[in-house]
This record gives sequence, C-alpha cells and structure tokens, in this order.
Amino acid sequence: MSDLGLELVDPHYYAENGYPHAQWSELRANAPLRWFEPDGYQGFWAVTKHADICEISKQPDKFSSEPRLTILTEARQKANSIGNVMRTIVNMDPPDHRTYRSLATPWFKPTNIKMLEERMVESAKELVDKMAASREGDFVADVASLHPLRLIAHLFGLPEEDEPFVLDATNRMFGAEDPEFQRSADRDEDMEQLRREFFAYFKKTADERRANPQEDLASLLAHAEVDGQPIPELELLSYYLIVLTAGHETTRNAISGGMLALIEHPDELAKLRANVGLAASAADEIVRWTSPVNHFARTAMCDYELRGEKIRKGESVALFYSSANRDEEVFEDPFQFRVDRDPNPHLGFGIGEHFCLGATLARMEIRVLLEELVPRLDSAELTAPPERLASSFVGGVKHLPIRYAIRGRA
Ligand code: HEM
Repeated sequence: MSDLGLELVDPHYYAENGYPHAQWSELRANAPLRWFEPDGYQGFWAVTKHADICEISKQPDKFSSEPRLTILTEARQKANSIGNVMRTIVNMDPPDHRTYRSLATPWFKPTNIKMLEERMVESAKELVDKMAASREGDFVADVASLHPLRLIAHLFGLPEEDEPFVLDATNRMFGAEDPEFQRSADRDEDMEQLRREFFAYFKKTADERRANPQEDLASLLAHAEVDGQPIPELELLSYYLIVLTAGHETTRNAISGGMLALIEHPDELAKLRANVGLAASAADEIVRWTSPVNHFARTAMCDYELRGEKIRKGESVALFYSSANRDEEVFEDPFQFRVDRDPNPHLGFGIGEHFCLGATLARMEIRVLLEELVPRLDSAELTAPPERLASSFVGGVKHLPIRYAIRGRA
C-alpha cells in the first residue's frame, strides 16, 4: 500500500479496483488506527476495526458529524457541494439530531414498514416477470434501482411519473465524481444546479402537502413542528433529500452487489434456493458483504486516546464500515460469503447515534426481492464485467450485464 492512503479515498481507485480490501486487511493487522494525508486531501485517521468504529459512533459528544461527514478532496470539500448547503439529520449532532430524527422515527418502525410488504411483493413479482421476459439486461437499471426507488417514492407519496427525476438526481448526487453522471466539466456548477433542482422539487412537494395533507411521509414532515414552530425550510427540504436519496441508492447497491455475490458463489445461491427461509439472513449477509456505505467521517471535539494513538481535537476520523465488516476478530471466515451467517453483527447500517433510520425497510426490500427471484432463477451469468461507481463514499456496481433463465410464476 502507498504511504499516502490514496487508495482508501480516491473515487477512481474504487471505480477501477473495487474496495481496497487488501489494504484494509493490512491496516487491521498492523496499524488499525492510522493517520493519512493523501495529496489533495485534508488528513484523516483511518479507523478500520469494528470495535473502534463502535466506540467512536456511540460518543457523538466527542465525535461530531457536523464539520466533515465524508472524506472528499480539499477542493470538493470547500466547494459549494450539496452537503454544505443542506442541513440533514445525518450531519446534525445532539440535541438537534435527536429532536429532528424523532419526527420521522415512527414511520420507520417495523410495524409501519410491515404495511408496505404487499407493495414490495407486488414490485418484486413484476420486476422478476420482466426479467423472465427479457432474459438479458443490466440488472442495475432493470431491477436493483427500480425496486427501492418505487418503495421510497410510495412511502413519500410521490407520483410514479416523478420517479425518473428522483433516480436521475440521486445518481448525480452520489455519482458526483463519476464521469457517467456529470453533466458538465465544472462539478461545482453541476452540484449547484442539482441543489436548485432538488430544492425546487421539494419545495413544490412541501407546498402541495401543506395545502392538501395526505397520509404520507412528505405530509408528516411538511406539518411537523419543533418547539411549537414549523420546521425551518432548510431543515425540511434537507429532510426530504436525505430520506429520498439515502432510501434507494444504498439499497440499490446492496441488491446489485448481492446478485453479483450470488452469481460468484453458486453454492450459496443453491443453498438459498433450497431454503428460501434463509432470505432474511441472506439480506443481512449481502449488506455485510457489499457494505454499500463505505465510510462516514467524524470530527474529534476533544483530544482522545485510542489504540495508543492520540487523536487531536479537530482531526477527522474516517469510519470504514467495509473494513469493519471483514474484521477477523468479529466474523468467522470474513472473506466467505454465507447466506446463513449467524450471528452477523455487521456495521453496514452504522451504529450508535446515527444508526440507519431505514434499516428495517432496506432489509425487507432485499428479503422480499430474494424470495421472489431466487426460487424462479434457474441460472444467471455475467455477459460482461460489472462496472463500478467512482465513489469512496457509497460503493457499488453501477452496471451489471446479466443473462438469466427464469421460470414463470408458480
Ligand atoms: C442497504 C441499504 C442501506 C445502507 C447500507 C444504509 C447505511 C446507512 C449508514 C451506514 C448510516 C449511518 C450514518 C452515520 O453514521 O453517520 C445510515 C443512516 C441513515 N440512513 Fe441508511 N442505509 C440504507 C438504507 C436506507 C433506507 C432504505 C433509508 C430510508 C428510507 C435510509 C435512511 C437513512 C437516514 C435518514 C440516515 C440518517 C440517520 C441519522 O443520522 O440519524 N437508509 N444509513
């Protein structure tokens, strides 16, 4: 590994090579907490052990999410990126974080999410039918991106015709470093344009819901109050943004990475086919294996000792969930993909203060799709190598060309 640690954060490295698992294994073994200053980046501590990520994530008073939530190049960090002009729950600290998070928590409780299952099954059946008819295609575009998008749009109460806008805008946001999703050579201009489009769309949605309330999450947030006052516009529109975008990009990457894992591990696919009751544990193993959110960062609010190193106030720590999810001290044979892994205390959804609000929804979406797809899937093979997204923040397969043999509905 180079001394600079560029492989850990450079989006183009991820596009070409996938996740830097060899580097993380070396770090976990020899320097589990290590300072890096890659060219063009502000320095950061790479946190690669499961226990350390838990320790840091559970102390939001000592490790803040506000100043620097991801490790981007200095130029991008300073630029007018969408993150700098939004105020979402993911980059708030307590007490505001708890106040704002609690507004949407009831919607994401298992009892509420269970009510979406019928819509999920309907979506999964329809997508598998389409796969059966076409026999070949890009699994990301045809299935993985559509299933979570429909469900989050449904939860939000957005009309179906708006889904392509949400999909395109999310691709541009998470794919900001990926040439496929850039609209111009000027990425700052791209981000500003995107921010304006998102804001205008969310503002229209909020105004409509205020005038004409519905039984959906968009209405709940449009009418929510903090300290007896409506949520300020910036926080409201940011809430829409985080739930809508975090709600499908990540799940899409889990689904496409999961499909790839099943193709690459035919014994595990056979195991799942023989016992589809394993779909729930397979869904969790897919999240561990793919770790769609590669990292989030925190900023130390005080000096802090960890593993004999001193993290100084103001320094950043990068929490590499994907490394923690291969930690040999926590997982038996961490480099084996096992659909029946149990226990599976992965950190794919983070942990502590900011534990993923949509974890129950994401797990159910993946499980339901597996339950519909796997029993009907006789075979699947790649027709070209998968293409990966250029991002060190959210990792994923952006195109997965597959040929499959799928049976009709039973
Ligand atoms: C496989 C799919 C998913 C993965 C891997 C994932 C991963 C994560 C991770 C790692 C965090 C922690 C952020 C931090 O510690 O700073 C997080 C937070 C969050 N996720 Fe997810 N997520 C997924 C699906 C979803 C879905 C379906 C939704 C919503 C519908 C969602 C909404 C959120 C929100 C709102 C937060 C911020 C929570 C907070 O700051 O309190 N996620 N997610």
